[in-house]
Amino acid sequence: MISNTTKESVYSTNKNFDQLYPGPIRRISYLHWTPIEIAQQAASFLAVTPGSNILDIGSGVGKFCLNAGYYFNDCNFYGVEQRSNLVSIARQVQEQLGLKNTSFIHGDFTQLDFSAFDHFYFYNPFYENLVDESLHIDDSINHSESLYEYYATYLYNLLDKRPAGTRLATYQSSLTRIPASYQLVKCDIDTLFSCWIKTE
Ligand SMILES: C[S@@+](CC[C@H](N)C(=O)[O-])C[C@H]1O[C@@H](n2cnc3c(N)ncnc32)[C@H](O)[C@@H]1O
Repeated sequence: MISNTTKESVYSTNKNFDQLYPGPIRRISYLHWTPIEIAQQAASFLAVTPGSNILDIGSGVGKFCLNAGYYFNDCNFYGVEQRSNLVSIARQVQEQLGLKNTSFIHGDFTQLDFSAFDHFYFYNPFYENLVDESLHIDDSINHSESLYEYYATYLYNLLDKRPAGTRLATYQSSLTRIPASYQLVKCDIDTLFSCWIKTE
């Protein structure tokens, strides 16, 4: 486990944080993993009540959860990720950082019981299905427009069923695929970072 002094340095810049990851993962960070400053903003919006369970839908190598968990140690951060190799990397870095309030689940988010979670975060997880293969994380899964549509609709319906007060933070994601039952309370047009609260 790394020392507290080293930890301060690790969490001070994206470059330092990304050094925790293997080279190939580090090199695609700017395209696929949440920047530390967005993770902090999202977590401060989501971690409003101590003991809350917060889920990152498509958690990759865990950059959101590993930052959120460091700054908000009275909440629990979970990530669900379909690629097992990314889950293993997230767990290794979690161990190095000694974080007790983050957990990574291997699987498809459609198989998860959303009632176990209070609030949600995602960074455009299905986008890979719409772009050229040079922008894919890897070729270990199938990509297609119909898969994008299936996942986006499935998530829309899951979110729509959550109780009033549910918070959602999204990054680089379409504002049009969020149910009308969520009110937009913050939106940064430059980064496409948005915060939502379910009203009904
Ligand atoms: C843009 S990355 C974001 C990673 C992480 N949330 C972060 O911000 O650092 C999106 C991730 O979503 C995952 N993903 C896409 N569809 C998924 C699904 N149906 N179930 C679980 N994970 C999925 C991808 O494998 C990818 O790792």
